[in-house]
Amino acid sequence: MQIIKTIAEIRTLVKEWKKEGLSVGLVPTMGFLHEGHQSLITRAVAENDRVIVSDFVNPTQFGPNEDLESYPRDLEQDAKLCQAAGASVIFHPQPSEMYAQNHCSFVDMDGLTKELCGKTRPIHFRGVCTVVTKLFHIAQPDRAYFGQKDAQQLAVIKQMVQDLNFDIEIIGCPIVREADGLAKSSRNTYLNEAERKAALVLSQAVFLGERMAKNGETSADVILSAMQELIAKEPLAKIDYVKAVDARSIEIVHEMKGSVLVAMAVYIGKTRLIDNFIFEEA
Ligand code: PAF
Repeated sequence: MQIIKTIAEIRTLVKEWKKEGLSVGLVPTMGFLHEGHQSLITRAVAENDRVIVSDFVNPTQFGPNEDLESYPRDLEQDAKLCQAAGASVIFHPQPSEMYAQNHCSFVDMDGLTKELCGKTRPIHFRGVCTVVTKLFHIAQPDRAYFGQKDAQQLAVIKQMVQDLNFDIEIIGCPIVREADGLAKSSRNTYLNEAERKAALVLSQAVFLGERMAKNGETSADVILSAMQELIAKEPLAKIDYVKAVDARSIEIVHEMKGSVLVAMAVYIGKTRLIDNFIFEEA
């Protein structure tokens, strides 16, 4: 498995693959890969002839006071995981390779980015849409794989692909959890021992909300209140948001009707973690 750092080299490789009639899967990541990423790569390997894993901490999706500098990085470990999972190549560009000094074009979206993480992180999705668009143009994939843990991101990418006519199939993959329930995240590495225990309150709230919905509670507001109450009992937790939205439009809903995304962002100490579940009305 190769590690490629330039856009020109990836383009040459992809052109060769396409000439041979091979299909290409792309797994966009910011590195520090864990079993969640591994599940995306494994699925991509099963469904495509060649798989590119992009490993790039994208500066344009971080706000001024966010964790761009401290975001964990470990290319060596990432390479081992990608190799074991069967990826063909890691694309690991420097920021200057992706953003030339005179770079001034961005991809932005209304609507779906107004609530949830888009509200708290106002420039985040502009950065995500921009870098994902660039990766799509560079890697020319037939399919691209994203985790359901970033449910709003997945909805945003699907909308962007539809709006901008990308000929790419977007595939969402289920959340992968630790044995005790905590959703896998590169940011879990920030947690100290006490915070790691406290972080369980996110998945506990998700499981509670999901149980209530499955048991027939039709009011999203009642479910959200119960989840918020549970989180409030954990002294190290501070809620950013716990909301119910239509899973496709990301508009606030009050009833568990249709396809509802119940999503949360919660600070555990200084670490902001996200989790969610999707309820499909029978
Ligand atoms: O989900 C992520 O890791 C990032 O937002 C993505 C999609 C790789 C874009 O930088």
